[in-house]
Amino acid sequence: MAAESLDTLLREWDGEALVTRFDEPTGSWLLIALHSSALGPPTGGTRMRVYPALGDAARDVMKLAEGMTLKYAVADFPRGGGKAVIALRRELSPSERRGLMLRYGALLRSLNGAYFTGPDVGTSPDDMDVIAETGSPYVFARNKAKGGAGGSGAATALGTFVGIETACERLFGSPSVRDRRVLVQGIGSVGLPLVQRLAAAGARVLWSDVLPEADARVAHLDGLHRVPADAATATECDVLSPCALGGVLNESSIPQMRCRAIVGAANNQLASPADAERLRERGILVAPDFVVSIGGALGITGQEAFGWTPEQADAQVRRVADTLRRVFDEAERAGITTDEAGRRIAHRRIAHAGPGSA
Ligand code: PHE
Repeated sequence: MAAESLDTLLREWDGEALVTRFDEPTGSWLLIALHSSALGPPTGGTRMRVYPALGDAARDVMKLAEGMTLKYAVADFPRGGGKAVIALRRELSPSERRGLMLRYGALLRSLNGAYFTGPDVGTSPDDMDVIAETGSPYVFARNKAKGGAGGSGAATALGTFVGIETACERLFGSPSVRDRRVLVQGIGSVGLPLVQRLAAAGARVLWSDVLPEADARVAHLDGLHRVPADAATATECDVLSPCALGGVLNESSIPQMRCRAIVGAANNQLASPADAERLRERGILVAPDFVVSIGGALGITGQEAFGWTPEQADAQVRRVADTLRRVFDEAERAGITTDEAGRRIAHRRIAHAGPGSA
């Protein structure tokens, strides 16, 4: 990455700090973006993958951290926004991976509570167990056997399911997903429990995944229909649910869309703010990802930091319905996109908390 592009990235970002560390033994970069501590300590998952260039990783971590600020603020939960990216240069062997996780944990501990983490794309509760060996007590979502609340995918899927019901209620007058065609893009730790819930509720479930072997993951479920990954966003359905990587709502996908609503858990689905406007013009109802995908972050953080029971966590995650109704109402009333409406609600909460009130 050219030096001036990092300069531009940082200048255009309104976060608080970007922590960087080069991990010599694996050639990986550890990036931690602390976006906002206005409502509480920055908290967010650790994403680990190979990026084309360091600049892509930096852009990703800063945008993802902002997304966490919006998530917690819109859900009115006292944590701030942060995110970590481990930008791998290549795939690692299990022992290299373990070493990297331990060094990452030590970095977390050196931050002394400035950032708390959990799993995200490319990391799991098993990784959290290792990171916590050196990074405790700043690591959420360890396995239950290790004293954590376990993985966050099921709670994120619950919030997304409730979001789909809320979109159906708005469009069709009933929240029931029975016989609705719902397309889930990505059968990962969120997509899989989501298709299970949808199928159990009688939806007509379509799904896609970039991995050919994903069939095995849904083999135990009847009546599901696979669509090719490159056809997902153009497939006719009631609700499109992006649950893989970001940027899927863009200039080239939007004109081809044949869905009534978009409600998914993938972070940063909109490639740019202009895409929210494009979707509004097309009359497609968008549930902002930062409203819908709070389940894991809320449920896990609530249990581990505030002692909620799993039942209390689920009840809190179900509040996605009320938040989403408020966002839809505000967007209608103000004649703005739902993305903008959600941001306004979040920013009002942050402004209300005021600087330094954390
Ligand atoms: N991956 C979660 C998200 O993007 C982050 C998270 C999980 C944060 C668990 C805390 C605990 O929202």
